[in-house]
Amino acid sequence: MADDDFGSELKEMNIEDKEKDDAEDVVDPWNVTSSSAKGVDYDKLIIRFGCTKIDHELLDRIENLTGKPVHHFLRRGLFFAHRELKMVLDMYEKGKPFYLYTGRGPSSQAMHVGHLIPFIMTKWLQDTFDVPLVIQITDDEKFLWKDLTLDEARRLANENIKDIIAMGFDPEKTFIFSDFQHMGRSEAFYRTVVKTQKLVTFNQVKGIFGFNDSDSIGKIAFPAVQATPAFSCSFPEIFNNRKDVPCLIPCAIDQDPYFRMTRDVAPRMGVLKPSTMYSVFFPALQGSQSKMSASDPNSSIFLTDTNTQIKNKINKYAFSGGGATIEEHKANGGNCDVDVSFQYLRFFLDDDERLEQIRKDYSSGELLTGYLKKDLIGILQKIISEQQKRRAEVTDETVELFTTPRKLKYDY
Ligand code: TYM
Repeated sequence: MADDDFGSELKEMNIEDKEKDDAEDVVDPWNVTSSSAKGVDYDKLIIRFGCTKIDHELLDRIENLTGKPVHHFLRRGLFFAHRELKMVLDMYEKGKPFYLYTGRGPSSQAMHVGHLIPFIMTKWLQDTFDVPLVIQITDDEKFLWKDLTLDEARRLANENIKDIIAMGFDPEKTFIFSDFQHMGRSEAFYRTVVKTQKLVTFNQVKGIFGFNDSDSIGKIAFPAVQATPAFSCSFPEIFNNRKDVPCLIPCAIDQDPYFRMTRDVAPRMGVLKPSTMYSVFFPALQGSQSKMSASDPNSSIFLTDTNTQIKNKINKYAFSGGGATIEEHKANGGNCDVDVSFQYLRFFLDDDERLEQIRKDYSSGELLTGYLKKDLIGILQKIISEQQKRRAEVTDETVELFTTPRKLKYDY
């Protein structure tokens, strides 16, 4: 196929356009930075990427369909954009099944609280819509991109799988797989990888991901591996050989390039395009100019941190939007848009009224940064210690259960 025959998904944006369009914000699967203290301009990003805003109408529809209030991540615009979410909702309305797909690239032993965001949303979606879920652990990706041995990448995958299981996914409806483990045992999976590879040119991946002539051919071929779980034909054992089960992918918006490519190849493979829903980034402790990242330990709160580490990191590093002195703060108030503790509370304090009160009192100068930090420390210590307790209960048998290919409970 000629390069100028690209589907509409790929015409929407490529790396060069991105650079021309907006020099300040960099958002791709490997880098997220903004020159603004408020972080990435997500309204601009929606236009640049060509996805759609999650609006009130869509949220009302989800509430009407499920009979449940939407998760506060949706209510507060933290999951803010999507691609064709309507398609899976239409299916659900007709009583037809869809499945969820998300993933993790195991670059570190410990995941950080930013990584929890898509998994918390995914769990809510699984519980609310009562649907199956596949979780891809891309140990191959991390071997290709990072300075890791094969064994180390595989080991980190296993550690991360335990963290993910500890988040409470339904064992009857969840399949978790490492690429190294699964690729060798599933002919259907590898067939879809190769079919996808045949439909995407080097020119296209250069445009989407910014690869150049010095990148290894492993990197160039990898996007097909991340695309593959979005098609139900890749998992005949799970979906009873059904090739038409639609897929919804919750993740942060950095993964959109992969799924733009996936949606572009889908019609040419004769399969359904996956739908997606995207979150904003959980900011680094130092501020919203960059996302929380495992490669910078001081930017992150890890799921392995102790109560003392959590307290010290927040007190020492969490960027404050308050005044330089108490007098200045009382006179001018604090700036919630840049205050990291307030931004974290938006994710983890689910009581809307309390959050609004904190916003008002901090903005007016009545509350000091120390109060927000204290509140946040307590909330994060509770979330992380509960996660650690559940993780300690994950045995090798539990891992075996989640990672064994099998028909997931659903009426196909
Ligand atoms: P990875 O390991 O970089 O990230 C795992 C998931 O966490 C999201 N994420 C964040 N969300 C909010 N705030 C942050 N600071 C933050 N940092 C990371 C990512 O968007 C992702 O959803 N290539 C992928 C692995 C993968 C995948 C997928 C992810 C394979 N298939 C399908 C999502 C959906 C990766 O390296 O993710």
